[in-house]
Amino acid sequence: MLEEQFILKTHSDSTEKGAFTWSSPSNIALIKYWGKKEDQIPENPSISFTLDACKTTTTLSYSKKESSNLFSFEVIFEGKKHDDFKPKIETFFRRIEVYVPFLKEYHFIIETSNTFPHSSGIASSASGMSALALCIMSIEKALNPEITESYFNQKASFLARLGSGSACRSIEGDLIVWGNHKHIEGSSDLFGVKYPFKVHNHFKNYHDTILLVDKGEKQVSSTVGHNLMHNHDFAQQRFIQANKNMTTLIEVLKTGDLNTFIELIESEALTLHAMMMTSRPYFILMKPNTLKIINAIWAFRKQSGLHISFTLDAGANVHVLYPENEAEQCIEFIQNELVAYCQNGHYICDRIGFGAKQL
Ligand code: DP6
Repeated sequence: MLEEQFILKTHSDSTEKGAFTWSSPSNIALIKYWGKKEDQIPENPSISFTLDACKTTTTLSYSKKESSNLFSFEVIFEGKKHDDFKPKIETFFRRIEVYVPFLKEYHFIIETSNTFPHSSGIASSASGMSALALCIMSIEKALNPEITESYFNQKASFLARLGSGSACRSIEGDLIVWGNHKHIEGSSDLFGVKYPFKVHNHFKNYHDTILLVDKGEKQVSSTVGHNLMHNHDFAQQRFIQANKNMTTLIEVLKTGDLNTFIELIESEALTLHAMMMTSRPYFILMKPNTLKIINAIWAFRKQSGLHISFTLDAGANVHVLYPENEAEQCIEFIQNELVAYCQNGHYICDRIGFGAKQL
């Protein structure tokens, strides 16, 4: 599918004002997106678990306005006016306007809130941008009721990608692929698709406990980090590796081979951070407690034989992953040994989820 197919060509004048609300989840990548070309095109395919508990809820209220040469919107975050978010949303609107040409015809009020603490270091761009993209698609549907559910979801993912790359993996669940991969038919650089192959029962209801090691603002944003992959000495090799890892993961997801799964996803997490540490300028997002947690997980895994593992996103927090049938013992270990490394003892119990919902 080409970009042009997402351009809304004609639409009725059928809606003067209204409001739509969507609740959209965050996601955690197993194979990481790190490095992009122009127009938010990823350098390599990635795959993520859609989460269930970490969500953004957004209400988009719209009313027809007089002149239509500027974007007009207000942002209310957790009940208070929040102008800090405006530049990112303005950029998003500018990027998507060609596909949703009605944006300048309305004044918008964007009311948004997260189920997780704002300053938790959890990326809210995936859930935030996907929720907003879905609300915009609801307006498109009001203007053009013929669109199918699959077009709706695909275009929502396509638009979300233009807000934040990883957001395109937050529309549906439970495993989403973004980026073209030679063995995954239908995979695309333009939007996320549901993982199309067999998934072993071991991966159903997989758990993710997010340990909040550092709740401060990141010193280096993801966008800056992605850009540092241009001219990075190891970039090309990394993109080849991500493609190979995806091929291996297809087999692992089918057979339920948890040991290879663990090796793959931990290697992906450490490679992501290795890319940061070897870019110019280099930077480190892990904190001492990130490493303490990783070492404690390795020691416990060896001693217990359980399939507990970790992954990281672009920050110091640790996502502890474990299968449903080992959850009780893993949670006990997390509470007894790992929570002590979290800032103010904060952590979030999450698990694999099934995508965004209209409220
Ligand atoms: C490390 O999607 O936040 O979480 O496209 O610039 O908004 P932008 O980047 P973003 O990058 C996420 C990177 C990651 C890995 C991943 O989610 O695949």
